[in-house]
Formats: sequence, C-alpha cells, structure tokens
Amino acid sequence: MALTLGQVLLQAGQTMKDKLVVVFGGSGFLGTHIVRALCKDGWRVRVACRRPHRALALQVNGQVGQVQLVQANIRMPASIDRALQGADAVVNLVGVLFEEGRQKFTSLHVRGAGLVASRAAAHGIANLVHMSALGADATSPSRYARSKAEGETRVRDAVPDAVILRPSVVFGPGDGLFERFAALAVLSPVLPLIGGGHSRFQPLYAGDLARAVLAALNTPQARGTIFALGGPEVMTLKQIMELVVHTIRRRRLLLPVPWFAANLLGWAGEIAGALPFVTPFLTRDQVLLLKSDNVVDDSMPGLADLGVTGLETAQAIVPDYLVRYRPHGQFNDEVLA
Ligand SMILES: NC(=O)c1ccc[n+]([C@@H]2O[C@H](COP(=O)([O-])OP(=O)(O)OC[C@H]3O[C@@H](n4cnc5c(N)ncnc54)[C@H](OP(=O)(O)O)[C@@H]3O)[C@@H](O)[C@H]2O)c1
Repeated sequence: MALTLGQVLLQAGQTMKDKLVVVFGGSGFLGTHIVRALCKDGWRVRVACRRPHRALALQVNGQVGQVQLVQANIRMPASIDRALQGADAVVNLVGVLFEEGRQKFTSLHVRGAGLVASRAAAHGIANLVHMSALGADATSPSRYARSKAEGETRVRDAVPDAVILRPSVVFGPGDGLFERFAALAVLSPVLPLIGGGHSRFQPLYAGDLARAVLAALNTPQARGTIFALGGPEVMTLKQIMELVVHTIRRRRLLLPVPWFAANLLGWAGEIAGALPFVTPFLTRDQVLLLKSDNVVDDSMPGLADLGVTGLETAQAIVPDYLVRYRPHGQFNDEVLA
C-alpha cells in the first residue's frame, strides 16, 4: 500500500536522532563527506554557507527534511545566530587556502572561528567541533598556519570543551591535491616539484576524517582535546605526483623547482589570482607551508584515540576518482612501466 508523505516523514523521524547539528562550511569538499556521514549517523543537519543554492545536491544524502540549507556568513554575527537557532551541536569547517577580497585568513580562521564559538556558547551549545589544520602554529612563518593557531585559541577561550581536529592533507573525490595535480597533468607536459618534492604529508581519506568528526561529536571523553589526524602512510610530494601520473596513465616530466623559483611561481599565482574567477595555482604562503613537513606528531592524541581505525590508503581510493583523467577514462587499461 502506498504511504502518505506524513507516514514517510514519520518513518524518517523514527530513524533520525532528535539532535540538530549545524555545519558551517558544510558545502565544501570536506563538508560534503562529513554531511553524508552525519546523515548516516542519524543527525538532523543544517548546512550553513554563503551560497546554499549551490549546495542543493547535499539534500540527497539524507531522508526527506533531514538536511536543511541556510545562508550564513561567519563574518556576520547575526547570520551565525540565525543558523544556530535550536541547534545541539556545531561543526565549523570554514576556511580558505588563499585570501580573496574580504575572505582573509584573519577574518575567517581567527575572527570567524571565534565568532562561531562565542555565539555557540551564547546559545548554550558546548558540543563544538572545530576544523583546524596540521601545522597550526602561532610561530609559523606561514600566515595560514598562524591564523589557524590563533583561531584555535579563540575557539577554546569561548568553548573550552570544543574538540579541535588538525588533519594533514585530505583526499577523496573533489580534493584539492590529487585532483588538482591530475587536472594540471592533463594540460601540461611538466609538473613542478616544489622544493624538489621532498615535503612530507600524511594523506587522510575524507571518509576517515568524517568518521573522526562523528566520534568527536558523539564521545564526551573527547571534549576539550586537540587531535592531530593523519592517514596510514607518509608520502612525499614527489610520491604523490608519481601516484597521480601513474594512475591517470600519462607520462609527465616531474621537474624539481628550487625554493626561490617556487616563490616566484607563488608570486605569479597571486597576480593571476587577483583576476576575477581565477584560482591561484600557488601562493607564496603555500610555498612557506610546503617548507615544513605535514605529518602527525605521535605524542598528540590522534585517530586511534577517537576510535577511528582501519584507515584507507591513497593507493586504494585515488584511482576510483582519478580514472576520469585518463585518456579514454575507465576504458583505458594500459599499464605504464
Ligand atoms: N582539504 C584539506 O585537505 C584540508 C586539510 C586540513 C585542513 N582543512 C581545513 O578544513 C576546512 C574545510 O576545508 P575544505 O577543503 O572543505 O574547504 P572548501 O572546500 O573550500 O569549503 C569551504 C566551505 O566554507 C564555506 N565558506 C567560505 N567562506 C565562508 C564564510 N565567510 N561564511 C560561511 N561559509 C563560508 C564555503 O561555502 P560558500 O563559499 O558557499 O560560503 C564552503 O562550504 C578548512 O578550514 C580547511 O582549512 C582542509
């Protein structure tokens, strides 16, 4: 017998938690994976971002009415307050890798993060997960890394119980690392190995990071802790590039670029990025970031402390979403030596 809409909603409600989590920045790369995991875990999810009309696809992750999209800008306190109405928990994912217009590191990572936390506290919400980044350091030469560290301090000042997650680079469909290099390799016969490609990373699968966010929200013992999150293996920038070109079956020259030349490239990237609709391919601040390894310090609490084990490797996941960059896509079964 056909069900009425009311019966469908009732059934949906029975499998949903009664709890509402607001995800600031839920429409971005990490947000897409985290919203899906939150829906599966039964949360009602309110995604708050500046352009919710671009995030309609998120609604298919949940049951009818489970995902709500609202307009909010974390630079505007009133919009944060509106988004927080009736919420039980908050996840803040808003961040940028390069500055653009009013979207500055300080306005988002420091003031914006502090505002989200202080407004959450004002609404009586202590269950807050804040997404920082591995390498957050108040003494770093990189403004990105310094702003992430200052943001953490503001968040903890406002909500001492906040859980702060510091992931290394994250991979998965839509990422800014493997996909970005693959897109570049389609266009260019040469790929730059910034600083010789020796910088080390600990790539973490977005699905595993999403599990960490769920654990952070659901585990009272995690409250007030900073977690450093990395994947199962350490890879140099060169190894990441090699995996990309091997996966997409394209022979490309990996050209070592010394630091001074990388700085010039970063400068050129910033000039290009000042043009409308152009994303800078590299900035001088990113070059500074690349000078330090981006790997987990094992003395800090990590994924295992959140109960997240059985991590995915880049080798296992990346081919699934990079296959479209191969000549002839999934119909290409050539194996490069
Ligand atoms: N991706 C990684 O490998 C990685 C690694 C370590 C740490 N992180 C951190 O993880 C967080 C999420 O990264 P991501 O890769 O998912 O970034 P992303 O794809 O660029 O997503 C950013 C999100 O923030 C929203 N946003 C931007 N400015 C906003 C504002 N003023 N007010 C409200 N929402 C705003 C964007 O939507 P609208 O543009 O519609 O507002 C989008 O939903 C960031 O804090 C980043 O620093 C990422």
